[in-house]
Amino acid sequence: MLTSVEPLLEGRRMVICAGSGGVGKTTTAAAVALGLAERGAKVAVVTIDPARRLANALGLDELSNEPHRVEIPVQGELWAMMLDAKRTFDQLIEHLAPDERTRDEVFANRIYQQLSSAVAGSQEFTAIAKLYELDQDGDFDVLVLDTPPARNALDFLEAPGRLTRFFQGRAIRMFLRPAGLSGRILGRGTGVVFGVLQRVTGVDLLRDLSVFFRSLGGMIDGFTERARRVGALLEDPATTFLIVTAPRHDPVEEAIFFHRKLRDAGMPFGGLVVNRVHQPPPADLPEAVAEGLGPALAERVSAATRELSALAARDAANVRRLRAALGDPPTIVVPELDGDVHDVEGLALMRSHLFE
Ligand SMILES: Nc1ncnc2c1ncn2[C@@H]1O[C@H](COP(=O)(O)OP(=O)(O)O)[C@@H](O)[C@H]1O
Ligand SMILES: [Mg+2]
Repeated sequence: MLTSVEPLLEGRRMVICAGSGGVGKTTTAAAVALGLAERGAKVAVVTIDPARRLANALGLDELSNEPHRVEIPVQGELWAMMLDAKRTFDQLIEHLAPDERTRDEVFANRIYQQLSSAVAGSQEFTAIAKLYELDQDGDFDVLVLDTPPARNALDFLEAPGRLTRFFQGRAIRMFLRPAGLSGRILGRGTGVVFGVLQRVTGVDLLRDLSVFFRSLGGMIDGFTERARRVGALLEDPATTFLIVTAPRHDPVEEAIFFHRKLRDAGMPFGGLVVNRVHQPPPADLPEAVAEGLGPALAERVSAATRELSALAARDAANVRRLRAALGDPPTIVVPELDGDVHDVEGLALMRSHLFE
């Protein structure tokens, strides 16, 4: 057990908070960034889906795809941004397009519009693509990344490879052949189907498709290279993954699974943050309180105490199981706090549990 995340962050330029949904990734990322900023670093926290009020507290209400400074008195600097997956993908196209005409052609394309918000624009990929960009710019000492509420934490690790495979796949290569989509490749039957679709929907899908893939053609190498570097960034020794979890059955199982995948993929695992752990009440609480209360109230206090003890025992058992499964990794425990963490004071409290 550690009393501070500090040794896990030593010399790291990139801290990725991963784990299943609802365990406190966003909150942990923000609190870690705050702690580092207080220690003098210039830090940017890249959040994905901050709870509304936390977003407000960080001044993140207006969607901008660039970090902005959080006005709080710290020795270093705290910057925050909320990731907009679609905007990031657009910026990537802008960057890779050889000229303005190609860029506009891609943007205007219905297939691109679908694709950028669905397949290739998956939050997982754009999150690390943005991180890569910020890292390249070199404006910050440390970047702290919150991760998407992944249905599957692995989407995140696999996103660069998936994107690369998509662009190298047979389907896309086929569209890029000089003959395009016309005649030869798609049989007549398909042509009829597209024709009917166009009449019904008013969308010239066939044209859209071929224009899209043609204009994208020249950018494929750029994409592939970007995906490769993003993949390399994840494995960099200056990167560390903190697995955030809660001391309950399902999040613990997912943390064990995710840890194994990290290891198999050769990605740097830093340690565990077990969040929202119930602390056992002081053993003499009922007696101490009962003195001033009538018997009925005293009984209720004692029932609540028993309940909390049971929760604390269950949480402790889950923490033990998790640590045993991971071979006793560095672990920080953050207690269940009274109420949500939705403002800077809440973050500061969270930070005080994460740092010595
Ligand atoms: N230690 C804690 N004690 C009490 N509430 C917490 C704690 N950590 C997080 N929360 C609350 O739990 C909710 C989910 O946290 P969040 O960071 O958004 O999770 P995630 O990003 O993993 O989905 C938020 O409302 C947050 O304020
Ligand atoms: Mg979140």
